[in-house]
Amino acid sequence: MPTFPENFVWGTATAAYQVEGAWNEDGRGPSIWDTFSHTPGLVAGGDTGDVACDHYHRLEEDLDILSALGVGAYRFSISWPRVRPNGTANRPGLDFYERLVDGLLTRGIAPVATLYHWDLPQELEDAGGWVTRDTAYRFAEYAALMGETIGDRVRTWITLNEPWCSAYLGYASGVHAPGRTEPAAALAAVHHLNLGHGLAVQALRAVVDPAAQMSVTLNLHHVRGVSEADADAVRQVDALANRAFLGPMLEGAYPRDLIADTASVTDWSFVRDGDEAAACQPLDVLGVNYYNPTLVRRWDGSSDRSTADGHQDGAASPWIACENVEFVQQPGPYTEMGWNIDETGLTELLLRLHRDYPAMPTMITENGAAFADVVTPNGRVHDERRVDYLHRHLTAVAEAISAGADVRGYFVWSLMDNFEWAHGYSKRFGIVRVEPGTLERVWKDSAHWYRDVVAAGKLPG
Ligand code: BGC
Ligand code: BGC
Repeated sequence: MPTFPENFVWGTATAAYQVEGAWNEDGRGPSIWDTFSHTPGLVAGGDTGDVACDHYHRLEEDLDILSALGVGAYRFSISWPRVRPNGTANRPGLDFYERLVDGLLTRGIAPVATLYHWDLPQELEDAGGWVTRDTAYRFAEYAALMGETIGDRVRTWITLNEPWCSAYLGYASGVHAPGRTEPAAALAAVHHLNLGHGLAVQALRAVVDPAAQMSVTLNLHHVRGVSEADADAVRQVDALANRAFLGPMLEGAYPRDLIADTASVTDWSFVRDGDEAAACQPLDVLGVNYYNPTLVRRWDGSSDRSTADGHQDGAASPWIACENVEFVQQPGPYTEMGWNIDETGLTELLLRLHRDYPAMPTMITENGAAFADVVTPNGRVHDERRVDYLHRHLTAVAEAISAGADVRGYFVWSLMDNFEWAHGYSKRFGIVRVEPGTLERVWKDSAHWYRDVVAAGKLPG
């Protein structure tokens, strides 16, 4: 019977652009996701985050749902263009997050604030986006503003969510905003995200409660080779996906093999003296998002090359300089995203992190699954596959803990169905359903199940 430590944090997660709506209200400026979703053909169904779950106007109702779920923490993100459009503090936007944080605290729920979940102010993209060093400085200024505003009440700060996606899906494959397909620019973005992270941690520490914990959320890829002969393909993908961020953030240096692998694309001259040290700020806990493992093999040119890495195909590959790597379709079962369900990757990933960074605790800042939910005539959603997915992955977390990993918490992705980026509203990850049209909130079976798990502090059975 898998068990969790006494003080294990149980939570749920969302992100600003995916749930808030109110895209042009109360002084909010446009973000790259407004521009991207308003461009015909880039998001499935022409969906946008203009209304999304209307969380901006339904804050109290959603806070009450969190309270009824009994979670100890809620991970949300702050919309940068809502609070600092054109580099100027926007009081009504800041007020919204004050209400959110206060509403959580009143209900005994710990706020976990993510500063950047992909919605860069459009004017910063117009000035070059993450490809430009200045964006890292602007990010630190925005971090300071948020620290000054809610830093007396927020005890856990996450700088970036999945910089892998921001850099490679935004600037290399182009399936995410801003939709650029420039590999060299994507690697510059990697660096300026790392730098921005470090500068933001410093800016926060200067103003927030000294007891606050600093973190970053990475979508680490658990990379496996088809056979031992594929070890170099595993190494190369691990460097691009994982060590490109872990290296500077936790060790103060880019991996030398990453620089060598990408030498034909960039000379990395955007990394200045002192940058790697600046990126490497002491962290209290590392956030890990996990959905599925990655399977690769060396491609020798003898057959058609498969690039099925589980991400949407874009105009170009997110995998820079990986011409000799093949991404292999993994055995099912699959979620609605086409991602295979394999919780063993989560245990292995947590144990690898424990081995490589023994002093760094982790928390699962996202884990969950999209399935095509069916509403019964009496309004129920019997999403037993989502329950099974969550049960398996929580068991995997407990196994990592019993093998020595220091895992502090788990956040289900997501509290509610929301705007699933380039998939629009066609993919639903919520444990609470958001009814199209009415936006009514309906608890799925998984929400009832999670409430019971949280209350018991353990899995049933
Ligand atoms: C609707 C959107 C709504 C979303 C919420 C969609 O089906 O078209 O307007 O914001 O559901 O999940
Ligand atoms: C992101 C979420 C997203 C989820 C499912 C993560 O990559 O942080 O915003 O909805 O995965 O795709």
